[in-house]
Amino acid sequence: MALTGDGRLVDDKFVDGCRRVTILGATGSIGTSTLDLLRRNPDGYAVEALTAHSDWQGLAALAREFRAAYVAIGDERHYQPLQQALSGTGIEVGAGAGALVEAAKRPADWVMAAIVGAAGLEPTLAAIERGVVVALANKEVLVCAGDLVLTAVKRSGATLLPVDSEHNAIFQVFDFAQVGAIEKIILTASGGPFRAASRAQMAQMGPAQAVAHPNWSMGAKISVDSATMMNKGLELIEAHHLFQLPQEKIDIVVHPQSVIHSLVAYTDGSVLAQLGSPDMRTPIAFTLAWPARMASPSPRLDLAKLATLTFEEPDPIRFPSLRLTREALAAGGSAPTTLNAANEVAVQAFLENRIGFLEIAEIVERTLETLPNEVPESIAHIHICDRRARDAAMAFIDRPSVGQRAY
Ligand SMILES: NC(=O)c1ccc[n+]([C@@H]2O[C@H](COP(=O)([O-])OP(=O)(O)OC[C@H]3O[C@@H](n4cnc5c(N)ncnc54)[C@H](OP(=O)(O)O)[C@@H]3O)[C@@H](O)[C@H]2O)c1
Repeated sequence: MALTGDGRLVDDKFVDGCRRVTILGATGSIGTSTLDLLRRNPDGYAVEALTAHSDWQGLAALAREFRAAYVAIGDERHYQPLQQALSGTGIEVGAGAGALVEAAKRPADWVMAAIVGAAGLEPTLAAIERGVVVALANKEVLVCAGDLVLTAVKRSGATLLPVDSEHNAIFQVFDFAQVGAIEKIILTASGGPFRAASRAQMAQMGPAQAVAHPNWSMGAKISVDSATMMNKGLELIEAHHLFQLPQEKIDIVVHPQSVIHSLVAYTDGSVLAQLGSPDMRTPIAFTLAWPARMASPSPRLDLAKLATLTFEEPDPIRFPSLRLTREALAAGGSAPTTLNAANEVAVQAFLENRIGFLEIAEIVERTLETLPNEVPESIAHIHICDRRARDAAMAFIDRPSVGQRAY
């Protein structure tokens, strides 16, 4: 650590020159917000690598604008047009799963892990294994392989910084020197677009309603997860791994305004919280500048104008995903991997209008009931469990009995 001329405490390696950054999932909601911050700080950051899955035009435009050294497109079918779009620029182009890992291995000091879903596991692990700072937005990575990922973090000496607004809030007020004095952490949840809806009303909701989040602008998958409240369940598992707390010490409270991003309660009765407007550029800026601070254009809070902050108990009856995630975490082993994979498949089927909204949680539950629980000992084993869960969930999607379970 070193103190800069203007009194900031930063890692020695960032004192001179700028940070080299790689963004896995550059064309998505988190990737776009990260690049917005880089655009506003052209002297502080240089882009090493960028990745996308299918949006090769968006990736090519970003690569040109930020003069990336390397770009990777996950879907190999887009390799040719991407390469042509970047010909003559000197930017190296790769395609396929191996290229995403190659992007993560490139010499960056800071990597944003913002691919959606378990597809981000290998690239995120590749970045972690380099022992650099990894800003983690891709919560599914910790849900499906938390123990193995944390072991890799310890082995490599990487620094994992949470980007999820709740975990970032907790990170900011969590006294790592006094973990014994932490009674519990409290994750806040907006409740999503169906917070006040009955089950009968939810049954009528389609993708357009489910992705219309009242506070946050996000990718389609996490928006549907917020509507089912699976997102909060995934965050419970994420928090368990990041802060090494048993689930009994992790509470969830519904806070519709999304102003208090989460809280830590201490044994002396103190409760510390982090507040801010619902704009992901605040937690991303925290991780980009860490351990210093940088300016972010997020709208500023006007507490007097807000006037009222409200809180409610979460309802595991209307939102069975909350129960399913607690059960999967308690079961341990491959149960969270199964839950995550089945949810990814069910959410995709819902977005394609192949199943109804309530069937998402039902498919996840049936998949968990059907498959054996194993202790994943390697990433290869995680992939086997993940694949099996996807196959089982897909089979349920095509069965007429789905949708008839009463909760
Ligand atoms: N958005 C938020 O406010 C927010 C907040 C907290 C946490 N997170 C987490 O951050 C992650 C990203 O969320 P997001 O909202 O930014 O998602 P998003 O808008 O859907 O973007 C996802 C990114 O990942 C890429 N991608 C998709 N499928 C892929 C695959 N199979 N292989 C490789 N790359 C793939 C996409 O490329 P294409 O554009 O080419 O499809 C895009 O760049 C998720 O895990 C989410 O839970 C998001």
